[in-house]
Amino acid sequence: MDQSPSEKEVVRSNPANFKPKYLVLDDINIDLISILTAGSALISTYVFPSLGYLSILVAAAIILPLRIFFPRSTTPQGLALITGASSGIGAELSYILAEKGHDLVLVGRNQEQLDAVKENIEKKYRKNARTIAIDLSVPGTAKQLYDQTRNEGLTVDILVNGAGLGGAGETLEQPFELAERMTILNCVALVQLTQLYGKDMIGRGRGWILQISSVGGWMVSPGQNIYHATKHYVRAFSEALSIELRGYPGVVNCQLMPGPTHTQFVTRAHAEETFMMAASGAMEDPKAVASAGYKGLCRGKRMVFSSWNAAATALMMHLAPRSVHLTIASLMNSPLRGMVRMKEPEADQKARGSQLRGS
Ligand SMILES: NC(=O)c1ccc[n+]([C@@H]2O[C@H](COP(=O)([O-])OP(=O)(O)OC[C@H]3O[C@@H](n4cnc5c(N)ncnc54)[C@H](OP(=O)(O)O)[C@@H]3O)[C@@H](O)[C@H]2O)c1
Repeated sequence: MDQSPSEKEVVRSNPANFKPKYLVLDDINIDLISILTAGSALISTYVFPSLGYLSILVAAAIILPLRIFFPRSTTPQGLALITGASSGIGAELSYILAEKGHDLVLVGRNQEQLDAVKENIEKKYRKNARTIAIDLSVPGTAKQLYDQTRNEGLTVDILVNGAGLGGAGETLEQPFELAERMTILNCVALVQLTQLYGKDMIGRGRGWILQISSVGGWMVSPGQNIYHATKHYVRAFSEALSIELRGYPGVVNCQLMPGPTHTQFVTRAHAEETFMMAASGAMEDPKAVASAGYKGLCRGKRMVFSSWNAAATALMMHLAPRSVHLTIASLMNSPLRGMVRMKEPEADQKARGSQLRGS
């Protein structure tokens, strides 16, 4: 039977060669050991009350050294490519990486804002930045971006998948095209860029990938349904990838879970009047969010939250009964209809440049 090229690809790459590795002292196993040890200590203090303090001490003696001396991954090195570098969290990550000494490839659609980020980086940090304006919500553009960087001889050691698009409103009312673009950008392009650059990283034995996910990946969200569904996808994809990459200790995959962040993402998604963005008091500074992501990457974490608040929200939504979860999620996304509005975020990277130079 005649097979299409894509079918052949699937058959060829279908991995009998996936060799899961379990005996690795990584972030995942350290969490697992910590949970099992703490659980055993609790059970033994309950079953043998006389051993109370001893079991807690033994648990602490196992858990603390593991967590303190956990084999940290190496600090990222080499050229960084950041999608979504023209504003918000992606721009802030670009500044952090430039400050740490990396040359950069800045990717987004808005050439003027990309140029402003480039200028800020060159003036303040004296690092080289190359800009590429491309719309990653168009099918095939992830590969086009990869081919362009390869043809220019750029070796990407750090990949930040930061470009993202949201959309508040009822699912059935959302423009068809917006839902399509959101899914391609937030999911398909992110996976394809990870595959393309990730494979090269494996070949070189080193690389760092930061996926910008969202606390929305822990929430089922009436009122932001499609966007949060895309972030569930990113969360699942990234966690499983971290297991697959166990066989390649030089390659780190970390996902950053920001809570609501004060960027133009919110205004673009028309979510600035929702309770979560306007009145919950949970709004975060994109600089702090970017810094949490960079630290997570340096420590080889599979997942890092932007703040305690973001982590607590995710935990609460994860543990809550579904009826409670759904009710809270719909209240968080409910529109306040002009009563309160999020303060306008900083969108212009030229203005951010004067702050940077002043600091
Ligand atoms: N802000 C929040 O509350 C929040 C919370 C959780 C997670 N996040 C996630 O954080 C990431 C960054 O968002 P942000 O808050 O920093 O918002 P932002 O300031 O709007 O940044 C989004 C970036 O994505 C780029 N982008 C959008 N559509 C694109 C396309 N079709 N092709 C290429 N690039 C595109 C934008 O570039 P151009 O403008 O040049 O197109 C911009 O640089 C997103 O993945 C978002 O889902 C945000």
